[in-house]
Amino acid sequence: MAASRSDALVLFGVTGDLAHKMIFPALYAMVKQGALKVPVIGVALPKWSLARLHSHVKDSIKQSGGIDNQRAFDHLLSLLKYVSGDYKDPNTFTAIKTELHGVRRPAYYLAIPPTLFEMVIKGLGVANLAAHARVIVEKPFGRDLASAKELNRVASRVFPQDSIFRIDHYLGKEAIMNILYFRFANSFLEPIWNRNYVASVQVTLSEDFGVEDRGAFYETAGCLRDVIQNHLFQVVALLAIEPPSGRDFGAVHAEKAKVFEAMRPLKAEDVVRGQYSGYRKEPGVAKNSDVETFCALRLFIDSWRWAGVPWYLRSGKYLPETATEVVVELKPPPQDLFADSEPAIGQTNYLRFRLSPNSAIALAARVKLAGKEFVGEQRELYLLEERPGEETPYERLLGDAMIGDGALFTREDAVEAAWAVVDPVLKKHHRVRPYKRLSWGPKEADTIIGSEGAWHNPISTAASG
Ligand code: BG6
Repeated sequence: MAASRSDALVLFGVTGDLAHKMIFPALYAMVKQGALKVPVIGVALPKWSLARLHSHVKDSIKQSGGIDNQRAFDHLLSLLKYVSGDYKDPNTFTAIKTELHGVRRPAYYLAIPPTLFEMVIKGLGVANLAAHARVIVEKPFGRDLASAKELNRVASRVFPQDSIFRIDHYLGKEAIMNILYFRFANSFLEPIWNRNYVASVQVTLSEDFGVEDRGAFYETAGCLRDVIQNHLFQVVALLAIEPPSGRDFGAVHAEKAKVFEAMRPLKAEDVVRGQYSGYRKEPGVAKNSDVETFCALRLFIDSWRWAGVPWYLRSGKYLPETATEVVVELKPPPQDLFADSEPAIGQTNYLRFRLSPNSAIALAARVKLAGKEFVGEQRELYLLEERPGEETPYERLLGDAMIGDGALFTREDAVEAAWAVVDPVLKKHHRVRPYKRLSWGPKEADTIIGSEGAWHNPISTAASG
């Protein structure tokens, strides 16, 4: 598809939380860059006036950093239209059609609860609104393998594959794009980037807050579905892929799908699920909820490169820090030549990718301390520290989808292969283990790593460059 620009954006769920927190600030940033000039038609159930929507948008931009360009803000408001209606009702789609008069290639953004994706996609199909259009779907894409397959089936009956844009906002993060670049723009890494030198890989996404006002959504998801099957698996895929055959991003998609296919399906004993104290009292949460707000797991990728290397993934709400980090731990030297050569835990070389809230890449190596003794200390060499002025993920991804560039979106085969890995433990798992707020989760999580290592807890922003 020689990508032509979408000439309208239809935003389903315009009155919702995601639009308020993420999408309006992204649209505002795009208007400031001159990257958004087309009508934006908001759709939602409430009977709002356009003035009400305007003040909602104003509130969103104020909360996300303020209005620093009044002209751009006014321009954004002038692009907005509003259609109120139920997604079950064909009249809603007729009203959208009226607003789209003269538009040739609309983009439909489904910022709505996942349970409504199929209904809206079918509604667009029935109303003949899908021709030459694009559809942008928020995660989670399905809630297990069977539902993801069904959603893919429904979506591909209405839209061609290259017009379906499955968002995983982690793929729009600068620090995560840099994993791909760092791996394949450098040659020093390749000889060590395999089972011979890598002892283990850890990925932690920790947040020092709870589910906030998203309890009802969270009850349908849980940590594994919310961030591990998608965000953390995408990070793992970029760390684990083979070199793509060329610049075409299709080659990266193909290699990523192979990683998911090579992941060993999880077993109940590979996973520890936790729930923070007080979760069951959060609004929208069941009194006896068994939904996990913490999840730690051990994963294997059965490929030539990664055979036998454990990948430890962990995420949770109400942990002590808000940070996402990868630590690739290398094997210790083969001989214990120095007094401090043992134990190896905490002393081996590693590469640390700090992915958020700031970005950094650090390489840890041991250096000798001055003195007669041959003992040393671990030092981090910083290869990258945050550079300001980056586009936010939503700005980047929305802009890409509207020009038809699917490089940073997830492909059908990869999504399904990733669900196949977690599917067994969605069905079979132990009940959640309680953990105290602002702790590193239930102590059982340590058993995932065992005696040969320990979890690497991301350090606070102040200390991490
Ligand atoms: C979202 C999850 O996809 O990612 C949230 O639904 C989570 O629960 C968020 O907090 C984390 O994203 P980020 O960009 O803040 O690390």
